[in-house]
Formats: sequence, C-alpha cells, structure tokens
Amino acid sequence: MKYFIGNWKMFGVPRSINILNKINSFRSRDKNRNKYRVIITPPYTLIESFVKHFRNKKIMIGSQNCYQKDQFSSNTAAVSPYMIRSVGAKYTLVGHSDNRSEGDTDLMLRDKVKFALRNNLKVIFCIGENKSQKKNNKTFSTLRRQLTKVLKKEFNKKNIIVAYEPIWSIGTGKIPNQKDLLKTSIHIKKVLKTIFRKNSPAVLYGGSVDENNIDMFREIKEIDGFLIGGASKSSKKFIDIIKNYYR
Ligand code: 13P
Repeated sequence: MKYFIGNWKMFGVPRSINILNKINSFRSRDKNRNKYRVIITPPYTLIESFVKHFRNKKIMIGSQNCYQKDQFSSNTAAVSPYMIRSVGAKYTLVGHSDNRSEGDTDLMLRDKVKFALRNNLKVIFCIGENKSQKKNNKTFSTLRRQLTKVLKKEFNKKNIIVAYEPIWSIGTGKIPNQKDLLKTSIHIKKVLKTIFRKNSPAVLYGGSVDENNIDMFREIKEIDGFLIGGASKSSKKFIDIIKNYYR
C-alpha cells in the first residue's frame, strides 16, 4: 500500500473542499485505486466538516499537529489528540519541521505520539535534516537521533508512519538525488528495525514533490509514499502526481 498525503499547512476555507471533491472523483474512477491511500491534513478549522463530507468515501482526514496532553487542559489554543479524534480524524502529523522550529522538543514529540496513539490516531511522524547537517555529513546521525529519542518499542508500530522530509527540500524545489534518497531510506528502515524489531513502519518522502519529479521517486521502492505540501493545494497537481506515479 502506498500513501499520498496532502499537508495543506495554513491553507483552506470551507469552499476548498472542491479540491478534495475532484481528487475523490478521480480516485473513485482510477483503476489503481486499491494500490494507494489518500489522506489530507487540512487546518483544524476544517477537520470536522471534511470528515463528515468524506464519511464513506475514500479520502481520509488527519490533523497537522496535536498537543502533548491527552484530553482537556488549561492550555490556551491547544488541541489534544482526544479532541481531534472526537471529530473523526484518523491521523495526525507529529514533528513537522515547521513545529520543531517553533519549539517542539523530542520530549514533547514523544508525548504527542504517545497520546495520539492512545486516542486511536495513526501518527505520521516527521523527521529530516537541515542544510548544515547535510553539508556536514550529519544526515544519518540526525535521523537516528530524531527516531530513537521519540519512538519507543512499546508504541504500536502498526499505527505509525514515518515521513522523511529534509528541511532544505521543503518548499524550495530542491530534492535529494536518487542515490542519496535510496541510502537514506534504507538507513531509516534500519534504525526503525532496531527500535521495533521486525516489520518496520512505512517510510514516506516529503519535500518539493510534484507532478514532474514524481518519476524519479517512483523508482525507489523503499519509499512507501509521499507527504505533499504545495502541490496538494491543487487538485490537478495532486491527481497528476498519482497518475504519473502509476504510469
Ligand atoms: P512542499 O511539498 O511544499 O515542499 O512541502 C512538504 C511538506 O512540508 C509537507 O509536509
């Protein structure tokens, strides 16, 4: 099973559901539809209405983040995994670099993953090195640290997906070369195996994926899917990514 996940970030108002309607109608006609899953993470404001609209359809809705506490608390503007699950979301991103750069620590991320799983959310856990870590050959050690500090062997690995998003690639149009990406995805799976033993979670790639460069990623079988930012805000681009992937 492959994943095509659209992360809308700070984008979308109620009428933006039209984008998803188009993706859904493409998917329902696509002969490859049983080979992949489509998940969209809109902002909090749209989760409930999108979940209701796509109930019984094949687009799944997730959250872009969650707070590191379980149910209710006195943290202004925070939204807990329990609250996200209560409106029907099935997934949540955790550890996106946007949120790491705003102060999310490994300890906070571990609680986010723990409480999300406890509330029956599947977790898409994001990791990735920045430009200087890449330049200084620190990619592997950075990813290892990000994974081992947060993911614990007692977590239910069936409900965890890892998204590798090199920070230097997000929104820049720059993507890793094929050889590096292959090596890195093998490294990530190896580290995951040391944590979870057999059957590592799925590993996705994210960072400037679009309808033109998807051909390059298609050849790397270790990559189980994609976390797509900018190109997920256009139904045409998102659909073309899927079309070109299975061409
Ligand atoms: P872009 O596809 O816009 O580079 O964003 C990637 C991303 O951050 C998805 O979470």
